[in-house]
Amino acid sequence: MRPALAVTLAAMSIPTFLHPFAAPTREQADFLSIASGQGATVTDTTGRVYIDAMASLWYANVGHGRSEIADAVAEQMKQIAGFHTFSTFTNPVADALADKIGFLSPYDRPRVFFCSSGSEAVDSAMKMARIAQSQAGHPERTVVISRERGYHGVTYGGTSASGLPPNQAGFGPFLGDIVNVDPDDLAKMEAVLSEHSGEVAAVITEPVQGAGGVYPPHDGYLAGLRDLCDRYGAYLIFDEVITGFGRLGTWFASQRYGVTPDLTTFAKAVTSGYQPLGGVVVGDSIRAVYEGDPDFFFRHGFTYSGHPSACAAGLANIAIMEREGLLERVSMIEQKFKEGLGDLLDRGLVSEVRGTGAMWAVQLPTGVSEASVFAEMLASGVIARSLPSTITFCPPLVITEDQIDTTIGALATALES
Ligand SMILES: Cc1ncc(COP(=O)(O)O)c(C=O)c1O
Repeated sequence: MRPALAVTLAAMSIPTFLHPFAAPTREQADFLSIASGQGATVTDTTGRVYIDAMASLWYANVGHGRSEIADAVAEQMKQIAGFHTFSTFTNPVADALADKIGFLSPYDRPRVFFCSSGSEAVDSAMKMARIAQSQAGHPERTVVISRERGYHGVTYGGTSASGLPPNQAGFGPFLGDIVNVDPDDLAKMEAVLSEHSGEVAAVITEPVQGAGGVYPPHDGYLAGLRDLCDRYGAYLIFDEVITGFGRLGTWFASQRYGVTPDLTTFAKAVTSGYQPLGGVVVGDSIRAVYEGDPDFFFRHGFTYSGHPSACAAGLANIAIMEREGLLERVSMIEQKFKEGLGDLLDRGLVSEVRGTGAMWAVQLPTGVSEASVFAEMLASGVIARSLPSTITFCPPLVITEDQIDTTIGALATALES
């Protein structure tokens, strides 16, 4: 850094780190610096302990401080930290993790593609759906339909498919052939499919919309979507970046809802965030297309696809979930949040409660600022997440009943004040 610039930045206390989703003018002193974590708690650099009621950013399903995963990653790094998997190469951990994820997935004969994040998973799935249509003899099928309120990451594919206009503002122009539709109304979805009949490659949706404010699907919505996709020749993509790996008490949300998409994205809880890893599970329908032509070459992939250290974290993470029965804890978490937040609704402190499994949100009454509620909860030692007029919860699956009570108590106190 040029000395003059360093001096200027220091004087303003603006950090060199340009933070994601933050005002670039935010000063260093306004950040909460997290130093360590254990279970469902994290500790800041001053030693203050907080309940992590968001599993960091919807991902730390096994909780923090799992030395078992650290050891598995370290062991792998000592063997070989990284080696690419393009064309000729593979490695035992990527193969093992693909087999494991495939086995846990809803598909009979899955293939598993790896990348390093949810956004890359979404972009990959969009490209994979289009190339599958093209391979199946329908290169004209290029339209991707997404839902309002949907969050699909921040690369250009995901930003183009986004149903959250503030995340698009100023970043255009976007990818062509993307249509964003009403999030709940299947008749409107059908109207768009019909208007673009013969042109639609895929419909992409989160089974439970997360970052848009935690909106579970209406009864029958996902089954209806599956039916529409089948009737209009579109692939169905479930973006399971949040819901994958146990969030709803099943390995994938598709299993909880009994609706099987053609492609399933995942990231976050596949490693509980111990290493960056994402991917796409390819279902039987698209597998058949890809493997149907021996001359087809899958010209897509990332330097870190199947990265051994990241895959080692994935294997260790899934082993913990299985051994400790973490998916079975979701019914307790669901019940506690449903009752606790429902009580706040009965008392008129919130205007709506939404959620399922271990993903919950409250809608704040008009005039109540989400930033103040977030700040008051933080001051009482609970990290939630504030979205417009909304506070969300997505705790590690190891959270205790007491910690849930404390979390909901902190929300109640913040709302009462
Ligand atoms: C449903 C969904 N898709 C995609 C993403 C993007 O993931 P990442 O931030 O790892 O790129 C997210 C992130 O929250 C998400 O919730």
